[in-house]
Amino acid sequence: MGAVTIQQVARAAGVSPSTVSNLLTGRSERMLPATRARVTAAIEQLGYRPNRAARQLRTGRTRTVGLIVPSVGNPFWGAFARELEHAALADGYNVLLCNSERDPERERRYVEDLWDDGVRGVVLCTSLPSLQHLAPVIDRGLQLVTFDRPTQPDDPASVVSISIDNNVGGFLAASHLTRLGHRKLAFVSGSLRSVNRTGRFQGFCSAVESAGLDVADMAVWPTSDGAPFGDVEAAEIGRRAAHDLFSTDDRPTGVVAVNDMTALGLCRGLRDLGLRVGRDVSVVGFDDIVLADLYDPPLTTVRQPIAQMARLAMAEVASHSGAAPTESGRSVLLRPELVVRDSTAKPPSR
Ligand code: RIB
Repeated sequence: MGAVTIQQVARAAGVSPSTVSNLLTGRSERMLPATRARVTAAIEQLGYRPNRAARQLRTGRTRTVGLIVPSVGNPFWGAFARELEHAALADGYNVLLCNSERDPERERRYVEDLWDDGVRGVVLCTSLPSLQHLAPVIDRGLQLVTFDRPTQPDDPASVVSISIDNNVGGFLAASHLTRLGHRKLAFVSGSLRSVNRTGRFQGFCSAVESAGLDVADMAVWPTSDGAPFGDVEAAEIGRRAAHDLFSTDDRPTGVVAVNDMTALGLCRGLRDLGLRVGRDVSVVGFDDIVLADLYDPPLTTVRQPIAQMARLAMAEVASHSGAAPTESGRSVLLRPELVVRDSTAKPPSR
């Protein structure tokens, strides 16, 4: 027996095929409840499955959203992807996941390929300062929602941005340490060539200055900016930083790491050097991934509201994709929260 067609469903329900199609595509607000019930019953009775490929051919778009993350090698992105998929499924969408490694060329290729496959809405997790490499496909009508960077001055006007306030996050992390009495701090990161990391670093500097300290006396690692972004090798970056920063006499007593994986690598490096985290050295991470609370000692960190941000990103992409992009891309900035655990304490008395 061949596949059940929309015409068979329509005949069984005593309606036209376009009425069935309206119900299937969510355009049924003006349908009588009795009609809706008849069509639904006919769909169930006949076991009708809509032919997505045919619908895509007709409309030129799919019920799929693209999600491009830097790398699921970092559990932060795995958690974000899981939350976004959850929200997408609830809205009747599927998700196609891609890893960009923060490479603009990879971002461009994925976005173009997704468009060619009929995907009209993409959530792009990126913190690159410019989106110019994506301008042609945005001009064609792609609804782009960026996560992890606030809107930048030359962003195309239709782009919606969702991010935490990284400046506030960096400030919370460093001022927690200065309030505990730390006077010599370090900021540890992969490459700072990204909007959110620069924001975190600026917040760090503001906290140092507000505590009456001199930014020039603080340590910043790496010292030159050829470093990789480190989404995959974040822990290794932290470990190397521990080795470099704590093999000198002028050691910091408190460290702010750009994310939790870097902080955890740093803790491991400190342990290799015989130093106790939360006693000899205080460490603050950023993100609040699931491992932060499981580590020993549990990591003090700056929490990003991952689930809330993923839901927002999905809502934005679903409400616009397929419609003509508007000229008024929104920028949503959420406040991060400091979560104090045992990896931070007063500095040791010398
Ligand atoms: O750990 C992943 C980090 O990369 C997060 O802090 C996120 O904001 C991104 O920049």
